[in-house]
Amino acid sequence: MEIIIRENRQVASEAAARVVARIVREKPNAVLGLATGSTPLTLYKELIRLHKEEGLDFSEVSTFNLDEYIGLEKEHPQSYHIFMWENLFSQINIKPENVHIPDGMAVDIPASCAAYEREIVAAGGIDVQVLGIGSDGHIGFNEPTSSFASRTRIKTLTQQTVADNARFFEGNEACVPHHCITMGIGTIMDARMNLMLAFGEGKADGIAATVEGPVTAIMPASILQHHPNAKVFIDEPAATKLQLAEYYRWVYDGKPEWQKDA
Ligand code: PGA
Repeated sequence: MEIIIRENRQVASEAAARVVARIVREKPNAVLGLATGSTPLTLYKELIRLHKEEGLDFSEVSTFNLDEYIGLEKEHPQSYHIFMWENLFSQINIKPENVHIPDGMAVDIPASCAAYEREIVAAGGIDVQVLGIGSDGHIGFNEPTSSFASRTRIKTLTQQTVADNARFFEGNEACVPHHCITMGIGTIMDARMNLMLAFGEGKADGIAATVEGPVTAIMPASILQHHPNAKVFIDEPAATKLQLAEYYRWVYDGKPEWQKDA
């Protein structure tokens, strides 16, 4: 794993955006795996800026989102469809037909999950998967004890995740769906690169467990230790529990500029 500690969320997100932009420039039909939540918002703002000011071209790019709530219409303000269109897709030149988000209203959910997996394969696989980390260590909505071999499927959110996400539902936990469709951990591990972002001291324990703890299903993000190309972009507050923080800084600061985007 490569741990990139930057002074704040903005600088860390810009560094992560340069990696995504490099991939898109090298492979115009790149397949991006995308995440929702508050964490990737600065990354998306930077990708929008790169599109508008530096011509970063998304016209041939395809995207696959990690997850979606079950039971919310696409038009629901808290659906991840709306989130993605408001915060990224409406502001770049992506083709709507190249956007893929699990359908939380599918009549046959297991069949739609299997179809989602087939669509990822048909697109050529995910080149770079953007990830946040939940306060319980989840990636996508793969809650603690999710199988490391899991594929896209239904999951039940933990009470902790329901409470965490209530802030998007005007603080009303009762409005947060309890079920979701999420890519599995096996699906995420198939991506050619995983790019995790985490900001704020609330993520410090999860990041320390992910990077330096044992690989265990109780901390789903820890599986990234087994990924051959996982990068973790964090700010200083999220780095406070890392034993080897000085080493990670020394590694990154010693790299030539071109290698920082590799
Ligand atoms: P957050 O959520 O970005 O809103 O902190 C992260 C996650 O649940 O994966």
